[in-house]
Parts: sequence; C-alpha cells; structure tokens
Amino acid sequence: MEEIPIKVAVRIRPLLSKEILHNHQVCVRLVPNTQQVIIGKDRVFTFDFVFGKNSTQDEVYTTCIKPLVVSLIEGYNATVFAYGQTGSGKTYTIGGGHIASVAEDEKGIIPRAIQELFQSISENHNIDFNVKVSYIEVYKEELRDLLELDTSMKDLHIREDEKGNTGREAYLNSMIY
Ligand SMILES: Nc1ncnc2c1ncn2[C@@H]1O[C@H](COP(=O)(O)OP(=O)(O)OP(=O)(O)O)[C@@H](O)[C@H]1O
Ligand SMILES: [Mg+2]
Repeated sequence: MEEIPIKVAVRIRPLLSKEILHNHQVCVRLVPNTQQVIIGKDRVFTFDFVFGKNSTQDEVYTTCIKPLVVSLIEGYNATVFAYGQTGSGKTYTIGGGHIASVAEDEKGIIPRAIQELFQSISENHNIDFNVKVSYIEVYKEELRDLLELDTSMKDLHIREDEKGNTGREAYLNSMIY
C-alpha cells in the first residue's frame, strides 16, 4: 500500500491559569499507549502522533520534525503546517512568542529546525548549500511579508497552476502560524 505523505499530529495544551481560574474543565484526553484522543466521554480519534498536556517542545520536535529536517538535508521537500483555533497553541509549538527571549527548552519548532539545519551545513564542507528564508503571515485570504512590512499585501498572491495546485518550489516552504 502506498504510504500517505501527510502525517497529522495532535497536541493538547494544558489549561491556562485564567482558564483554571474560571473553572474550565479539560475535555480532551489521551488514550494511554495509543495514538488516540478521547473528546468528551467516548468520541475516539486516531492520529499519526498525539501529545498530551505534559509533552515538551523537545519531544514534539524530536518525534515529528527532526526526521523531516534530516530528509530535507538529503534533498526531500518538507512542509510543516500548524493548524488550530485561536489560543490552541500554534505559535507556542512552532516558535515561541518572543523567540529571542525564550528559554532553551521552551524553544519551538522553528529555532530547533534552523539550528539543526545550520549544524548540518557546517558539518558538510563538500556540499554547497543555498538557504532562503521567507516569513509570511496568512490571515484569512491575505498574505503579509513579515520581513518586508512595507510590501503591499496586494503584491503577494497565492498562485495556482492550471491543475489548481498551489506553489511548492521552496524546500521548507511554509511554516504558517
Ligand atoms: N503546550 C503548551 N504548554 C504551555 N502553554 C502553552 C502550550 N501551548 C500553548 N500555550 C499557551 O497558551 C496560550 C495560547 O497559545 P498560542 O498563542 O500559541 O495560540 P495560537 O494557536 O498561536 O493562537 P492564535 O491563533 O490566536 O495566534 C499562550 O499563552 C501559550 O503560551
Ligand atoms: Mg499564534
């Protein structure tokens, strides 16, 4: 059977202090030793990876992302996409709010992947690497270049080819949050 090239990981975040203060209750649980979560009493869903409220940034990176960075260096394309409602933990997981000031073990996916990438580049003296970085906010249907805030949003477009595919020329092409 052909392997599906998309893997889905679910991460449950802990309740925030303000949620505890308002007496909110946890409604999603992990099923121990499986890749399943239970929502409410008995609705079970299975994913490729599940991470509970005590999961660490390192655990998420090592399990889901590191293998992608390794194959990226071997020439394969990879995309990591964070998806979820507001406040669910996308920014926390993928980067950390203020990347420069975040403690080492609190660092999310982007700083860890970048560190790993440049580490590999420095170890491979006989290969020429070309690293390009873009940082784009996607909000509703609008794109904003976060490294070039003067660029008008109208200058950026989501492109489709004649088959309806969107662009995928970059290697680690979209980390959206
Ligand atoms: N795994 C976690 N452990 C501890 N705190 C977390 C975790 N995930 C998220 N949080 C905290 O929960 C709050 C909301 O998370 P975050 O800002 O990452 O959400 P978001 O999905 O990026 O929301 P938005 O769509 O509004 O940008 C933040 O205060 C964040 O620090
Ligand atoms: Mg966010």
